[in-house]
Amino acid sequence: MNNRENWGSKFGFILAATGSAIGLGNIWKFPYIAGENGGAAFVFVYLFCIALVGLPVLMAEVLMGRTTQRNPVGAFKILSGSPVWTAIGGLGVLAGFVVLSFYSVIAGWSLGYVFEAISGAFSDFTTASVAEEHFNSLVSDVTWNVGWHVIFFGFTMAFVYLGVKGGIERGSKIMMPVLFIILLMLVARGLTLEGAEKGIAFLLNPDWSKISGESVLIALGHAFFTLSLGMGAMMTYGSYLNKDDNILSATSLIVFLDTFIALLAGVAIFSSVFAMGQDPAGGPGLIFQTLPLVFSTMPGGFIFSILFFVLLSLAALTSAISLLEVVVAYFVDEKNWPRHKAVIVFGLVTLLLGIPSALSFNVMAEVKLFGKNFFDLADFFSSNILLPLGGFCIAVFVAWVWGFDKAVIHLKEGSAGLLDRNPWLADLWWVFLKFISPVLIFIVFLYSLGLI
Ligand code: PHE
Repeated sequence: MNNRENWGSKFGFILAATGSAIGLGNIWKFPYIAGENGGAAFVFVYLFCIALVGLPVLMAEVLMGRTTQRNPVGAFKILSGSPVWTAIGGLGVLAGFVVLSFYSVIAGWSLGYVFEAISGAFSDFTTASVAEEHFNSLVSDVTWNVGWHVIFFGFTMAFVYLGVKGGIERGSKIMMPVLFIILLMLVARGLTLEGAEKGIAFLLNPDWSKISGESVLIALGHAFFTLSLGMGAMMTYGSYLNKDDNILSATSLIVFLDTFIALLAGVAIFSSVFAMGQDPAGGPGLIFQTLPLVFSTMPGGFIFSILFFVLLSLAALTSAISLLEVVVAYFVDEKNWPRHKAVIVFGLVTLLLGIPSALSFNVMAEVKLFGKNFFDLADFFSSNILLPLGGFCIAVFVAWVWGFDKAVIHLKEGSAGLLDRNPWLADLWWVFLKFISPVLIFIVFLYSLGLI
């Protein structure tokens, strides 16, 4: 613990944690699930989920990290003294490995697409099928797919290697404002296209008839993933926070920024897609096929396509950094490894683990376990099992094992003024964390396993 670092400032923490939260989930997932599930009605439900589950669990994670100044394994060990809870922290570290291995493949595509955009490849896209063929030929190319995964991983490792303050914080201070400016430019471009209002209507028209039990569960599950909860990323970032920083205001701001950026991304994407007369597809098809086609016909599309894929790559990079940091923090804190060694060894291990995911789109497409290829399996295992399980355990642990009296003493450090003036805030957090969040997370867990 000798040379454990801290953030240079609370602002640095907020930017890094917002960087972790804002990722592929915000830029491609949120816009299309909102569009498909009732637009503004879904956004409304989602905001509820964020308030009932997202914010309380985020506060719990950051608080556990800051109180113990440790990675998830160390945090559970110190607060519980029990091997069972310590193992739950270990699940978080495992989730870091697994999420990063497949996340980096899609992030690699984003980076690869920056160069596709620069090379002018999109100008040949005259129909949807040309865009689709182009995408398919790239992902079936082993060198392209594995190559960009490795390059993206190299960037991720470089930032983590440089340390908390000199790498992650400094990188976030540059990347997050750039991301925001690019996004504003894309919003401005989208909104000034003729027919943009149809896209806005798609995203923001409240269609309550589309809200079903299932869309509520989608909103809840997404609230979780988009805030990087359930695997200790926020706990690890919280562990570099100083005791005099206000957790309540910092986490509220992170949640606000994450949601705001997701909405802006939706506005930028759908105003352009609708103005250019394309269909709002879902998933990778929207980002890697429909959007390039949209850019090929849009005035200024060449520049905006480059900007878009730079935006996507930056968003993915700041999230990937937080995933690798969980693994590295574990080896630094618990095994006393020097940071540099932990980054190189476990960076390379995770990079190798990602290769079968990269190959799942070509030579290993038919290698299947439980009917899923490696990529789908890694995605399913982490997003549907490890993260909700981790989140459930964190909420239960803080609320039922650690206990209100102790947790609130630590929460008050840095926010005593606010909590003394408004004691109900702590009580409210407690009710959510103790009863509402675990129950809701458990329901999402059953749902994502297909049990309800
Ligand atoms: N929050 C990130 C996103 O929205 C994903 C992520 C999940 C990052 C878990 C870290 C930990 O893309």
